[in-house]
Amino acid sequence: PTGNDFEAEDALISQGVVESNHTGFSGRGFVNLDNVVGSYVEWTVTGPGSVDLLLRYANGTTVNRPMDISVNGTVVSAAVPFNGTGAWTTWQTATVPATLAAGVNKIRATATTANGGPNTDKLTI
Ligand code: GCU
Ligand code: CA
Repeated sequence: PTGNDFEAEDALISQGVVESNHTGFSGRGFVNLDNVVGSYVEWTVTGPGSVDLLLRYANGTTVNRPMDISVNGTVVSAAVPFNGTGAWTTWQTATVPATLAAGVNKIRATATTANGGPNTDKLTI
């Protein structure tokens, strides 16, 4: 656990936009994923190793917004819950264990419901 931060606003975003209208984010903002199945953020990080993926997010609703977490195209944790955090300005961290390959790893968080994903701030490894 080296605590490197990978900001969502610097990652590959599919069906989402970088915003900064809810305070408490790190970096320059967060990703507001579109409220559709399949919206995702994908970070590129270097392995290898067994790590905890720390996903910082906010969900200002009371409805879970699960996401599939994949590494290099393989889902390593399906429908990880991202439950309501109480407000869009209240950020929490979800922890997902994963094994990274040597070299480049693509870590993707993909919304699995029509509500989309939570607002996503960063990945810390
Ligand atoms: C609100 C909020 C957004 C959030 C969205 C949602 O519009 O301001 O930051 O992404 O709700 O429900 O996904
Ligand atoms: Ca959204």
